[in-house]
Amino acid sequence: MEEQEKYIRALIELHRGLERQGPGDTDYSDYIISQIPELPTNPRIADIGCGAGVGTLFLVDKFRSKVRAVDFSREFLDELINRAKQRGLEHLVEAIECDMGSLDWKPETIDLLWSEGAAYNLTFEGALKAWRPLMAANGIAVISEDIHQTD
Ligand SMILES: C[S@@+](CC[C@H](N)C(=O)[O-])C[C@H]1O[C@@H](n2cnc3c(N)ncnc32)[C@H](O)[C@@H]1O
Repeated sequence: MEEQEKYIRALIELHRGLERQGPGDTDYSDYIISQIPELPTNPRIADIGCGAGVGTLFLVDKFRSKVRAVDFSREFLDELINRAKQRGLEHLVEAIECDMGSLDWKPETIDLLWSEGAAYNLTFEGALKAWRPLMAANGIAVISEDIHQTD
């Protein structure tokens, strides 16, 4: 836990005030959305390891549907909520402070699971195992796999 706290403190310090806390860009996110099958009306969407919410706000903008935004950093979630408020979108953001490795959501209830630059924290395989049960029939998961160098 101490290690985890040190990691998150370093991450927050490094990324304070930045739009993104990891790799990615909006054009590429647009491209990915253009490639996935059509989602149901009012899709149930989750952005896991959302950080300050660049992906969450992108998804809210795209789908005008509520997004569950999960992170264990209160500070990042507060940044997300502030950004959502500035855009008048806070009613579409459900910020959830918890461990993304133990989400106790009802199985098969997510139509689009999005996770940028965060899965490596559980190991990619661990993330797939933890999140697979959440996927609705025909649900889509968009998960980036970081190459994360620690030394
Ligand atoms: C590299 S950042 C990416 C943030 C955001 N998706 C982006 O692309 O800007 C990884 C995020 O995962 C979060 N995180 C790491 N381990 C976590 C865990 N076990 N549960 C919840 N969030 C976690 C961190 O707090 C951080 O915000």
